Formats: sequence, structure tokens, C-alpha cells
Amino acid sequence: MDNKQPIGIFDSGIGGTSIWKEIHNLLPNEATIYLADSKNAPYGEKSKEEIIHLSMKNTDFLLDMNCKLIVVACNTATTNAIRELRAHYDVPFIGIEPAIKPAAIHSKTQVIGILATKGTLNSELFNKTTEMFYHTKIIEQIGYGLVELIENGQMETPEMTQLLHSYLNPMIDANIDFLVLGCSHYPYLIPQIRKIIPNHIQIIDSGLAVARQTQNLLNEIGFNPDNNNQPIFYTNTNPTVLETILGSKYNVQEKDF
Ligand code: DGL
Repeated sequence: MDNKQPIGIFDSGIGGTSIWKEIHNLLPNEATIYLADSKNAPYGEKSKEEIIHLSMKNTDFLLDMNCKLIVVACNTATTNAIRELRAHYDVPFIGIEPAIKPAAIHSKTQVIGILATKGTLNSELFNKTTEMFYHTKIIEQIGYGLVELIENGQMETPEMTQLLHSYLNPMIDANIDFLVLGCSHYPYLIPQIRKIIPNHIQIIDSGLAVARQTQNLLNEIGFNPDNNNQPIFYTNTNPTVLETILGSKYNVQEKDF
């Protein structure tokens, strides 16, 4: 393996860029290729078999681009497909899972909330994790409709506000002191969520943890010594929303995959 090879990152759409940003901030020398499979979003409503199939398609694309490791920047794909991906490919994979552990450990009220997709909350992997924290009450809420609105660039619409209120108010009433964002799209909703929940409730996601895990893996397989690598972004739908959240500095390529 050549340490100049890029890191491949994929998600069902634009949400995984919240993970890409953490990786790029921590490891700015690394070449990165980001794949947004927005055409097939949301993954959260699909069967495990479909999620495995799409995750393999994305992995094949990134391996054709010569990636040295793959970051599955999608909780739904990680919780439903990472075991199968690791069994099928030789390349190392890093996945993202909802940050239940730090929330449960630090919660004073012993009540935490998690907002995630149906696919994540129903997965065996997620349910095994929550079993370990049986002393904490975990209020699970499926974020129906949120990914679709984010993919359409409708993060600050009345419809979004209404959905967020309906998902978060019962958690506030139940006295949560941590809100876990278990979907890589949701960090883009933090400004709206902050307007709804009281200040003492901490919001946590797993983006930085994934970047640190990537760094740890590179300690073993080698960092990229170059510092002039431009990140590459691919999407299989109209690139406008992805371009908007990335800012004009980065170039997004539309490709059918
Ligand atoms: N961004 C994804 C996640 O972290 C999936 C969203 C979806 O496609 O349903 O779960």
C-alpha cells in the first residue's frame, strides 16, 4: 500500500461531509475522495440487503479510485453493512456509530435521547450497543423526513422546524441531558435544534471520534507526506446542495454511479 493513496469516504448523500470536514481538519495532508450516493438516499428506509448492496457499490467505486482505506460516513450503512464489507474486502474500513457510550457515561439524569434513521435504530449492532447501557433510559426517535429535507437544501424551513419540534419535545419532557445525533446528516441541523432544546442539553455526534480513529489507523499504515492534495467530491444527482454546504472552494463532479 502506498501512503499517498486517497482516503475514500461515502454516505447516502451529503450528510457524510460532516465527517469529511472533521477528517480534513485533523489530517489536512491526506488526499480524500468523497462519494455522495444522493440518488439512493435515504438509506434509512431500505432493507439491510439493499444497504449492503449499495455500500458495496460505493466501495467498488472508491477502490477503483485507488483508495487506501474506506470511511463509511453513514451510521445506517455502518450498522447494517460494515461486518459484510469487512468480510468481503481486504481494505481497512472505519465506520460511524451513534455516540451512545459517552452520552450514557456522562448523563446525570440517566436519560438520553437519540435521533437516527429507522435502519440504524432497528439494526442488530445498535441494539447490542444499547444493551450495554441498560442503567440509562434511552429515548429513541426515528428522524422521518429529515434526510429528505436536508438533501433538498431545506434545512431552515417551517416544515423542518415542525418535524424537529415533534421529535425533540417528548425528549425534553422526559428530562434528557444528552442528545445523540445518530445520523451524519443531522449535524447540519444543530443551529435549528439548539433553538428548540434548552441550553443544558448537550448535543453529541461521532464526527471527531471517526477522524481520530482514522488518524490512529494511519499511524499504522502511513500518513500522506504531500500537502497539496485537493479533495475530490462526486455526486450522482444535481450537485447544487452539496456545493452550497461545501462552499465555493471545492469542486463537485456529477457522475452516474
Ligand atoms: N447519513 C446517513 C446516516 O448517517 C443515512 C441517512 C439516510 O440515507 O437515511 O445514517
